[in-house]
Amino acid sequence: MKEINLPNIRQAQFRDRNYRAEIIRDAVKLTPEQKIIGNGLNYHVITYGCQANVRDGEVISGILENMGYTYTDALSEADIIILNTCAIRENAENKVLGEIGFLQSFKRKKSEMIIGLCGCMAQEEKVVDVLMKKYPFVELIFGTHNINRLPQLIENIIHNKQRSIEVYSRQGDIYEDLPSVRQFKHKAFVNIMDGCDKFCTYCIVPYTRGQQRSRLSKDILAEVQYLYANGYKEVTLLGQNVNAYGKDLDDDLSFAELLGKVSDIGIERIRFTTSHPWDFSDDMIDMIASRKNIMPFIHLPLQSGNDEILRLMGRRYTSEQYLTLFDKIKTKVADVAISTDIIVGFPNETEQQFEDTLKVVNYCQYDNAYSFIYSPREGTPAAKMIDNVSLEDKKERLQRLNAKLGEYSKMHNVAYEGRIEKVLVDGYSKTDKEIMCGYTESQKLVNFRCNDAHVGDIIDVKITQGMKNSLNGIAVENKKGVQ
Ligand code: 5AD
Ligand code: SF4
Repeated sequence: MKEINLPNIRQAQFRDRNYRAEIIRDAVKLTPEQKIIGNGLNYHVITYGCQANVRDGEVISGILENMGYTYTDALSEADIIILNTCAIRENAENKVLGEIGFLQSFKRKKSEMIIGLCGCMAQEEKVVDVLMKKYPFVELIFGTHNINRLPQLIENIIHNKQRSIEVYSRQGDIYEDLPSVRQFKHKAFVNIMDGCDKFCTYCIVPYTRGQQRSRLSKDILAEVQYLYANGYKEVTLLGQNVNAYGKDLDDDLSFAELLGKVSDIGIERIRFTTSHPWDFSDDMIDMIASRKNIMPFIHLPLQSGNDEILRLMGRRYTSEQYLTLFDKIKTKVADVAISTDIIVGFPNETEQQFEDTLKVVNYCQYDNAYSFIYSPREGTPAAKMIDNVSLEDKKERLQRLNAKLGEYSKMHNVAYEGRIEKVLVDGYSKTDKEIMCGYTESQKLVNFRCNDAHVGDIIDVKITQGMKNSLNGIAVENKKGVQ
């Protein structure tokens, strides 16, 4: 068995803020033997969770294809299946454990099949413990800090017939020049940083993904330049907290400056996520407002509208400060859409405190929102708080909140009726092949009839109907004009 150095949450909280991440270039070097391990074999990667995981999934696919593996949609035909997991809430973890149970039936029929688990769950001590003891058929476990070691880990399983379990508890390094198979040919995720230093008291991310570490701007700009030169229309700059970009670098750009340089490259659409209100500067707002190719859409997590809960969450802002920022963005960025994340039922949240959240929601009238019931994550400070709110009450609050959020998203969508919107075409609707789909500049999903558009085109679409979660429309150039 390989090195097991399990995550240590106490250590993570006291980590050295002056630590500078190492940049590891050419991070996946394959030996001639590793390059042919997968010849004639198939792989499948199942990704859960956030966009950072999606991007990791693309890198895992890239490494496997460089080793000779071919992608397959059919799990039964796969020779290696990797579950790229999320640990943000308990239900995300339960889904993965259920899927592992299901995969065991494939492994029974095909004993040489490799089943692997990586991502945030692999960074949790208790999960690795359970997998080691109760799921012996999961032969490959690696964490968020060592994706580049995948070739050696697979080689160890195949040649030495040993389980490969390797998880590091680390501040984290920066890997460059990673191979990847991108999900799309017209829009791409670009990591600008990894990890998080905010330590919101409910959140496991700073432990599973390590210390905030920004990539050098020159590496990010080179990647965007490459994507632009290869016909990509949209990049989404990714980080747990993009507004803090560069704060861990000695002499590089701020996020506002980085946005400016990415915009200068000339790619049609630039998006970014996620923004923490605490780090959102006026310079960023001015930059977003002044560039046509920076999309007018901002995800601005609120989490709670009550100041005491925000303090207990360690969010570093009051509801008033949040609203001041919200108003500034709305005033300065023309036609901006704003979405949010909200947690209900944080330990001991009172009805009054929950109603404060509803008040902020009523004020902000978000375009879109993700709402969650608080889920205790072992090792985080909030998980130690004694909670007197019943699950029933939490569910009831979530329902009330969702009803309000749904009203506002529908209201915004209905206001689009009759407008002509620029839509980047993503493909065909999952339910009706005659309907194409794509996103407006303000990140609204549109399903529309169209005869002559292609994936990657940016076309004018007339919006005919606003629904709760999407828009319906018809392409302006659509000759046949069906609706
Ligand atoms: N319980 C519920 N929701 C959580 N989130 C993060 N941690 C938890 C947790 N322990 C939510 C936050 C965050 C989003 C990605 O997930 O709202 O913004
Ligand atoms: Fe988690 Fe807070 Fe960091 Fe977001 S900013 S990843 S909620 S600790």
